[in-house]
Amino acid sequence: MTRRATAQAHPNIAFIKYWGNRDDRLRLPANPSLSMNLGALRTVATVTFLEEEGPDALILNGIRVEGPARDRVEAFLDHVREMAGFRGKAVVESRTDIPAGVGLASSAAAFAALAVAAAAALGLDLSERELSILARLGSGSACRSVPPGFVEWVAGDRHEDSYAYSIAPPEHWALWDVIAIVSEQHKAVSSSEGHRRAATSPLHALRVATAPERVARCREAIRRRDFESLAEIVETDAIWMHAVMMTSRPPLFYWEPATITVLQAVRRWRDEGLPVAFTLDAGPNVHVLCPREAADEVARRLEQVPGVQRVLTSGPGGGACRIPDS
Ligand code: DP6
Repeated sequence: MTRRATAQAHPNIAFIKYWGNRDDRLRLPANPSLSMNLGALRTVATVTFLEEEGPDALILNGIRVEGPARDRVEAFLDHVREMAGFRGKAVVESRTDIPAGVGLASSAAAFAALAVAAAAALGLDLSERELSILARLGSGSACRSVPPGFVEWVAGDRHEDSYAYSIAPPEHWALWDVIAIVSEQHKAVSSSEGHRRAATSPLHALRVATAPERVARCREAIRRRDFESLAEIVETDAIWMHAVMMTSRPPLFYWEPATITVLQAVRRWRDEGLPVAFTLDAGPNVHVLCPREAADEVARRLEQVPGVQRVLTSGPGGGACRIPDS
């Protein structure tokens, strides 16, 4: 019997951010969050389980990977093995077009695809919600890459209650993310370490307490396709998260000089009448949101901003799903 399956998933960009856990091991987040899947970028994972026991193998874009990345995949697959009552080792082959470690949620797509592939390979029949809960154990934001389109992660206070669900399908709104890449260097401090530091910031408690209201306002802006309201709430939330990062002990600065240059340009363009809004994850690259009609113009302008190395563009994407083995 072949225990093998392949799945694909897209990364997501958070409009209301996940930062800080109330339980690091289970990745139970301190606050709810909300995101959009990015359909133009994807990860495809094939998982093959063998009868024999032993260390799992991870092959990333054709290269065998050892160390912390492999260990994290093995720890994740241990959950799946336990659910299925299976002990054999796995070979994971993952291919992605997402640059890793630059704040483009590469781990979100990776663990969403891995959750779907591993569960299918071991014959587990899980609902979308159960897959989202499972993916969360690999990377918190991965739970949001399981459902399609615009997605909310309900924080929950127990493992079974912390999951993501779709608030609108990808077709609901032609909202584009034009990503200004200012650095492709692997980030010095991982998100996981950042989450652990969040509570050392005196601003953390206030950010967490006010997050549900921002989620509600963001959900409503998406429902009404109201770009102006979305822009206001998304930028506020990103600044809040970076304020917490910068006031943590030790502090975390993800921004580069070119990051500020892009942020200033975006604000200027908006004052001039271009519908744009910025957000940033745990990295220096700037995600510029805009209606699809403005995306070409935004990309053209971003390419001319000093320090921008290249620009990636994506509209909303679907959820994680099984695809045929290649
Ligand atoms: C800044 O999901 O990457 O992108 O659970 O440790 O894998 P781990 O963290 P991760 O954190 C994402 C943080 C963020 C904001 C967000 O996507 O909500």
